[in-house]
Amino acid sequence: MPSVTVQDSNLVGGHAESRPRLSSPITYSGALDKYIKTFADVTPVIGREIYGLQIRAILKEEDEAVFRDMASLISQRGVVFLKDQDVTPSEMKDFMLRLTEAGGCPASSGLHVHPLTEEGSELGDQISVISSEKQKKGGGLTHQLSDVSRFASAGWHSDITFEKVPSDYAMLKIHTLPETGGDTLWASGYEIYDRLSEPMKQLFEGLTATHDASFFHDEARRLGNPLREGIRGSPLNQGGNLTAVHPIIRTNPVTGWNDLLLNYLFNLVTQNHDAQVRFRWAKNDLAIWDNRSTFHCATYDYDAARAGDRVCSLGEAPYLDPSSTGRRAALDA
Ligand code: SIN
Repeated sequence: MPSVTVQDSNLVGGHAESRPRLSSPITYSGALDKYIKTFADVTPVIGREIYGLQIRAILKEEDEAVFRDMASLISQRGVVFLKDQDVTPSEMKDFMLRLTEAGGCPASSGLHVHPLTEEGSELGDQISVISSEKQKKGGGLTHQLSDVSRFASAGWHSDITFEKVPSDYAMLKIHTLPETGGDTLWASGYEIYDRLSEPMKQLFEGLTATHDASFFHDEARRLGNPLREGIRGSPLNQGGNLTAVHPIIRTNPVTGWNDLLLNYLFNLVTQNHDAQVRFRWAKNDLAIWDNRSTFHCATYDYDAARAGDRVCSLGEAPYLDPSSTGRRAALDA
């Protein structure tokens, strides 16, 4: 994950070429309800398990309100879990493009191409293969470069924050898994923000953080693959400079709620297990999360093979709208 350092700034962030296309947050319309048999919130603040909904069925839907509802639901709950999905990597990409579009991503944002993705990779540039076996052999896309042997919590991150235009949503399907272990945890940035005192909120709202993933250069050299320096899903994401400056507190345009973007306030994320959800995967389960408002962490407590496919869409360049609120204030209003 990128290292993060903090600076003072008057900026509220954003980039003229990469503003969200929503003029106001999305309101859930109910168009999605016909696809959902039942659902259960996994904790009060983050995570929802949804039963009956197949990504493939939704892809046939022409009513964009269904995708807007999906965006609203994921952004409100932070992460949703969909059981036993019969969906191909290509369908995952199609779904993610419609989701990010419905969520109001800038016209210039598409699906991310990870800088370590090999040219001509089997499933296409926009699929990151998560594979414990490949990692053991020293290859594949290594997401987890921190020392998790001593502190499993060193693995907490949000995806690709080193890009000028980072991810709005990510989808991960696990198709190969050990008998037990390999759970993934997510933490709510909204909830962490709401736990800050007013003076702390004001302090952090004036700061930016530099997210630095320059270590991917070393990793690319080690793997013997050139780093991807062409357009990585947005014209603002190209070249060899894998650092980005983002506001520490950002607004999620889909909900209009503020959250913490960074790993700097690490302890708030890792030590508040009541702001987290832990998901025990079954074969072909799929999770979709909002990378703007959550952090996540894999658990490396298994020996047997674990593998899946991940797609990340790109949202807006992070910004803070001074008129946006926290999640609790919005829900209490
Ligand atoms: C990721 O960090 O995106 C992958 C999480 C996992 O393997 O559970």
